Amino acid sequence: MITSFRDLLAWLDGRGLLARVARPVDPAYELAAVLRKTQKGPNVGLLFENVKNSPARVATNVMSRRETLAAALGLAPERLLPDLATRVAKAIPPETAAAAPVQEVVIGANELDVARDIPQVVHSERDAGAYVTAGIFLARHPETGVYNASWNRAQIVGGDRLRVRMMPPQHLGQYQAAAEAADKPLPAAIVIGAPPALMLAASSKIPFEADELAAAGAWQGAPLRVVPAKTAPLLVPADAEMVIEGEIAPKLREEEGPFGEFMDAYVEVGRNHVFRASAVTRRRDAIYHVILAGGTEDLALLSLMLEIEIWKAVAPVARVVDVGCPGQLLGCVVAIDKTRDEDANAAMQAAVGAHRWMKFVVVVDADVNPHDSEEVLWAIHTRFSPETGVLHQKGVAGFSRPDVANLHLGKLALDATAPVAMKKQFARRKFPGIEKIDLAEYLGERFRSR
Ligand SMILES: Cc1cc2nc3c(=O)[nH]c(=O)nc-3n(C[C@H](O)[C@H](O)[C@H](O)COP(=O)(O)O)c2cc1C
Repeated sequence: MITSFRDLLAWLDGRGLLARVARPVDPAYELAAVLRKTQKGPNVGLLFENVKNSPARVATNVMSRRETLAAALGLAPERLLPDLATRVAKAIPPETAAAAPVQEVVIGANELDVARDIPQVVHSERDAGAYVTAGIFLARHPETGVYNASWNRAQIVGGDRLRVRMMPPQHLGQYQAAAEAADKPLPAAIVIGAPPALMLAASSKIPFEADELAAAGAWQGAPLRVVPAKTAPLLVPADAEMVIEGEIAPKLREEEGPFGEFMDAYVEVGRNHVFRASAVTRRRDAIYHVILAGGTEDLALLSLMLEIEIWKAVAPVARVVDVGCPGQLLGCVVAIDKTRDEDANAAMQAAVGAHRWMKFVVVVDADVNPHDSEEVLWAIHTRFSPETGVLHQKGVAGFSRPDVANLHLGKLALDATAPVAMKKQFARRKFPGIEKIDLAEYLGERFRSR
């Protein structure tokens, strides 16, 4: 179990999964370009130790692998979904910590400037400027006091000002709408370098009435350590790297964007909410977290939450073995242990209905790794029948962003499982002794597998 951002970096370091970048790096474009190339290659975590004009070191790509997410939660990767599906049901309230590393430095309202106190990392060519890209917004519902945690990107304007995209049905947007209806600001805290369990709770679909600080406790199987914020009526994680305290102003919208988004295009300028900072608190040697939208870290965090929803929907109708979202987030692959031919159709129906975003589903047999897109394509080529294996639902709503919603209308699912009667014929070949072969011993040292 890993309960702080620091411990996460240490865990990665211990396994050779963290690269330290000592040379000076420009926070505008250069850092993101190194990150992008790393994600397309070794996909390790990065710790930039010398970011030009930056008040902090910068870490990224730290939750980019499924095995890291599993280790952070103290679970085996192959048991991740069934174990989490039961664990998340048991909320564990946070506990107040005696010491607060996240408040070692407090920059108050009169002295702060978000354009100076936060690293100015710019990702894509047409981005409006520097954004907070790994900020978890914590807020309490104005009437019930329940905590919500969600990731929201925030454009760094300067002084005390950031701009945020956060409209309903997102829960934070609903909280803000309730505060705004009473003409009140919504107190909020942006947590950066959060404990892994809070990162996962912020990514997840958690019922509106459920408290997400308690959900984070459930994810890590132990209470989240919290302390009162310095200038906002909120509890914040004691072990985080940095917190920007403040409020979301009522009845105020400003132009935010464009921003290079998770589907690899841009979201254009929109009139979005304004966050007014009242303090920046941080560790003395804070490490600032950034996430590249649509990169491996973003997709790993969000696909886990989708996979759990799909697991829960398919489990009652078929023997689900694993679920993956290789490639992107508008589809999934469900591996089942098929005992009857109708299982595949039941799994397809359940998976497309499990989440609005699921427009393309592939069901495979248990001998296919649903996280490996090459394996999945192999299963489609060798086991899918275009005559009988297609489920097509027209007109069902999917990903709802207004500018692209029409494109994502409808659902398609493919049955790439072998017919039960032909299981023997489709049994995959085995190569005796292959697990003992070390290629370096045959082909030379440069072919040693990592
Ligand atoms: C790195 C990252 C950035 C995100 N940025 C945004 C964002 O700017 N706006 C948004 O509406 N959702 C964003 N999301 C998705 C939400 O955080 C996610 O859907 C969450 O479940 C919403 O929770 P809520 O409905 O409880 O508020 C982001 C997710 C990740 C992982």
